[in-house]
Amino acid sequence: MAVAVIGVGMTKFGRDLEHQLPELAFKAVEDALRDAGISREDVGFVAFANVGGWSSEFFPLPIVCEYAGLNPKGGMRVEAACASGSAALAIACMAVESGYTDIALAIGAERMNELSTSAVVELLGRGGNFFWEFETFGLTFPAYYALLAKAYMDEYGASEGDLAKIAVKNHYYGSMNPKAQFQKRITVEDVLSSRYVAWPLKLYDCSPITDGAAAAIVASEKVASKLTDTPVWVKAQGIATAPANLTMRNDLLSIESAVEAAGQAYRKAGIDDPVKSLDLALVHDCFTIAEIIAYEDLGFARKGEGYLLAREEQTYIGGIIPVNTDGGLKAKGHPVGASGLAMIYEAVKQLRQEIERGRQAPIRRGQALVHNVGGTGHFAYVTILSLEKP
Ligand code: COA
Repeated sequence: MAVAVIGVGMTKFGRDLEHQLPELAFKAVEDALRDAGISREDVGFVAFANVGGWSSEFFPLPIVCEYAGLNPKGGMRVEAACASGSAALAIACMAVESGYTDIALAIGAERMNELSTSAVVELLGRGGNFFWEFETFGLTFPAYYALLAKAYMDEYGASEGDLAKIAVKNHYYGSMNPKAQFQKRITVEDVLSSRYVAWPLKLYDCSPITDGAAAAIVASEKVASKLTDTPVWVKAQGIATAPANLTMRNDLLSIESAVEAAGQAYRKAGIDDPVKSLDLALVHDCFTIAEIIAYEDLGFARKGEGYLLAREEQTYIGGIIPVNTDGGLKAKGHPVGASGLAMIYEAVKQLRQEIERGRQAPIRRGQALVHNVGGTGHFAYVTILSLEKP
């Protein structure tokens, strides 16, 4: 059964301690309900993406539903690290596909700034492999991705300047996105002169710590075609996992789960050449190196050549494929559980051509891709959204 996204919503991302977690979620839900033109009583199932740990709420789903006036037949909290938002979308789609409900809501929300940077970095670091990698070797997330960056630079000859170009592009699009955490343009020099966080990654190579929420409403084919003239179909979703320990991976120059998830999604969607089949992509740029590796994992570039797309500015609008037209996690912000749904928000708005001037990609093929990675590749979700019913 085909499932369509019929409404999306999100808050402005940033440091937002004025609003409690249920308030953040409420704002995204209101936005999505308005966009879909339905009432809260129509929602039969809620999947709530939240990594938590930093939030006061221990079991947040019922509080979020109560505050938003939702009383679904069923619901669950969903956690797949930084890919939780896409996991919530997957569960919402399954609730519709199974016939459990005609309309399901996926919400993602985090209030990460409840804790200090060092406490957040510690919690995220414990999300890698606690015993072997965090406790024994002290690896945090910037350090994990720094290892990947070093291995990549050594193997293929990419430079810190190539990584910097990803940050410059994403800040450029962030500067035009009113929902982005950072709305200022930066230069390669700004990136190169920013302080090291985990060598060779500097401040501007990192996504920030963010508070925010995003939501997407999905509906069955029957209901979607009654409610909207512009359904955005979930054409395919690839889902994969990989070992938590980096030492168990075959390759440090690629996220194996992302390669697998992309392969599944492309096969289901009948995509042979992603660059020729997609209008744009939202990829998981938690660190600049992650976006370069994503180009290769998703088949936008050959292995070892992803950095050339950055160097040649081929992932701006007008290049071979626009990537992260919303500013990416780097500039838009990365409230981890909400990030995947914020990517879905951008992809849906882009396909419906509802984006502000300057960052609307040309929509010719009617297809967009969302790539969302959890941990260092413990999970990966690749979603193809399409204006054409599958
Ligand atoms: N990019 C650009 N600017 C940033 C930034 C980032 N990632 N993080 C913070 N800033 C800015 C702040 O806005 C602030 O600017 P101001 O002085 O003009 O107000 C300044 O830098 C200092 O901010 P602060 O919050 O004190 O920085 P910090 O040192 O506490 O945190 C990091 C910086 C990079 C350590 C932190 O953002 C981080 O850990 N990021 C990674 C998060 C992560 O791992 N997510 C999961 C990925 S899988």
